[in-house]
Amino acid sequence: MATQKSKKSETHKDGIDSAKVSVKRFDGRTVKQPEAIAFLMRQHRAVEDLFDEYEDAEDDAEKGELTQKICLMLAVHAKIEEELLYPAAREAIEEPDLVDEAAVEHATAKDLIAQIETMHVGDALYDAKVKVLSEYIAHHVEEEESELFPQLKRTDVDLAAMGEQLEARAEELEEELSAGGNERASRKLVAAESRAGAHI
Ligand SMILES: [Fe+2]
Ligand SMILES: [Fe+2]
Repeated sequence: MATQKSKKSETHKDGIDSAKVSVKRFDGRTVKQPEAIAFLMRQHRAVEDLFDEYEDAEDDAEKGELTQKICLMLAVHAKIEEELLYPAAREAIEEPDLVDEAAVEHATAKDLIAQIETMHVGDALYDAKVKVLSEYIAHHVEEEESELFPQLKRTDVDLAAMGEQLEARAEELEEELSAGGNERASRKLVAAESRAGAHI
């Protein structure tokens, strides 16, 4: 049934099929997705790789660098989803409650990121907090890829154009936030958003 639906929506729009790109899902399967979804899924895989590297890292300096990268990557990813993808999805998908749940999950993840960013590698609970963040993100990512994104594909949202917007905004934010040093930039972004409550 779901397959029929998605075939229908794919065939009525020329160009969408040709814009599809291969990307790995959370469960390791390779699938073809419209650009916006593929772009976000590539970011999901990239942050999962960093969490894996953290698990294997033994050196504190390496752990610190990985944590900085993870926090910055997650801050940028959450922001582009909240600015661009979630508002469009909330208007268009069958179950907009999924978007509200995703936004609340972002808020919880950001609280954990903010805690980690005030700590130092080796502090009590540091490794535990990074581990819990990775598990929390894995859960969130699975929900996006198995529920939210499939619903979004069945709408008229132009996911090719959205892909370009997401990529451009991500580049802009990365540049902006890297300018004053990754660690401070990412912390600033998360702190500003927590104060403004922008994510809820
Ligand atoms: Fe998300
Ligand atoms: Fe995501």
